[in-house]
Amino acid sequence: MAICTFTRSILPLFLLLLTASSGLNGQSDSLRLENYKEKHRPQFHFSPLAHWMNDPNGLCWFEGEYHMFYQYYPAGTVWGPMHWGHAVSSDMVHWKHLPVAIYPDSLGYIFSGSVVIDKANRSGLGTKEQPPMVAVFTHHDPQGEKEGQITFQNQSIAWSSDKGRTFTKFSGNPVIKNPGIRDFRDPKVRWHEESNRWIMVLAAYDQVMLYSSADLKKWEFCSSFGIPGDTRLWECPDLVPVTTRNSDEKKWVLLVSIQNSAPNGGTATAYFVGDFDGRTFKSDPTSQQWLDYGADNYAMVTWSNVPDDRILALGWMSNWQYAQQVPTEQWRSAMTLPRELTLHKNDGGFRLHSAPVAELRTLQNSDAPDLATGINKPGLIYSDCTLSRLTLTMPMMPTTDLAIRYFNDDNQELIVGYDRQKNAFYVDRSKAGQHDFSPKFAGLHYSGQLPESFPFSMEIFLDHASVELFGQQGSTVMTEICFPSKPFSKAELVCHPEDASKCDVKVWRLNRVWK
Ligand code: FRU
Repeated sequence: MAICTFTRSILPLFLLLLTASSGLNGQSDSLRLENYKEKHRPQFHFSPLAHWMNDPNGLCWFEGEYHMFYQYYPAGTVWGPMHWGHAVSSDMVHWKHLPVAIYPDSLGYIFSGSVVIDKANRSGLGTKEQPPMVAVFTHHDPQGEKEGQITFQNQSIAWSSDKGRTFTKFSGNPVIKNPGIRDFRDPKVRWHEESNRWIMVLAAYDQVMLYSSADLKKWEFCSSFGIPGDTRLWECPDLVPVTTRNSDEKKWVLLVSIQNSAPNGGTATAYFVGDFDGRTFKSDPTSQQWLDYGADNYAMVTWSNVPDDRILALGWMSNWQYAQQVPTEQWRSAMTLPRELTLHKNDGGFRLHSAPVAELRTLQNSDAPDLATGINKPGLIYSDCTLSRLTLTMPMMPTTDLAIRYFNDDNQELIVGYDRQKNAFYVDRSKAGQHDFSPKFAGLHYSGQLPESFPFSMEIFLDHASVELFGQQGSTVMTEICFPSKPFSKAELVCHPEDASKCDVKVWRLNRVWK
């Protein structure tokens, strides 16, 4: 977000008292359980127990645990002095909340960053037997910002030798001093085998900069990458090696989150596909694509050290246009579903596909759907889909518009569909519940034109306050949040009768994670 526009809340007194009273946000176990019964609480997405959350940070796998750190303000429900919140999971679906991992200090707030496992102890911060987890993050000095300096964002490190439960900040921080760029943040680090160096990519206003290091402490500038003439604010980059599924070509994907130019307004995650030689990333700068066309997937980055080499990613399921105004009371924001990214080559070039991670199947009662059609005409298909996964496939593209309409008893509806004329998917949340908190929220949002035409597929995950569409085998994705007065419990197929007769629809009821 444009940092200068951040606002602070007046803290609700009762939340402050709760925060002060115990180690983990002050919540007793029973209260925690109650928290997840609140109105609009996601039931199978991650949301913090209480208070404000934005970007996922430090995603990594280590000794059987997936770690999720996140931008967190533990004393309010709008953005404030940033800490790193922390949760762990064995499957990226069921999460255990842990105490705040990294606190602000005299160098500033703890902004976004990443975590690596320093297996060979090149940093010397642990031992070979007990490799340190090293967090690399931005120190954002609010005082410097207030005084009008431009060098108030610097990169620092901290390490943990107890599986991320506690971190010690490096005494030589910052490890990269600001070179005179006002927006200079969000370092994402990975080990680069070929050059035997750590590689860092970070956002530097309207481009990314690459650095390399042997020990995570001393960094050398390598190169930068941007779009000539582009002045949009870039944030939260990630540079990932990917083997193309259908051609075996090795490519590098640069993920980058971009302010205020998203296909449906505000903020969204984009990507470039190119090559990287250990110092320089090369891609046709005009080849920028959107990872997700929905309004609510920002700061999406990948997990490091994943044991089975999948590329696993997570995003913040909101949009800076209204994130601080959404009508939730004790907490604000959830993460997207965890996704597996794969690269595919087609006539138009390379394209990233996203799929919900296989682990999400554990939320189903069985592999067999709760409903398998049989459906051969438009109309009601399911009446208990509050938490659900729905798949719809057809051997060919629909001949006219086609949609799944979710609705409740309060005359609210959320429509996820395909617009034949535009050859695009859409999500219509204009009548999907409360939207008076921001004029930018309600609306009918389209994806880009579909790159491949057939067969036709939609996979939709519906939670109490969000919908995620993985269209055309995940090549076109839309993530959107919504705030119905009651969860959508019924689903209807809206399409031409001829198309309906060719649709294969399956619905799985999903279990809550927060029990
Ligand atoms: C992206 C972002 C990052 C920054 C963090 C601050 O949402 O603006 O660039 O590090 O949020 O909370």
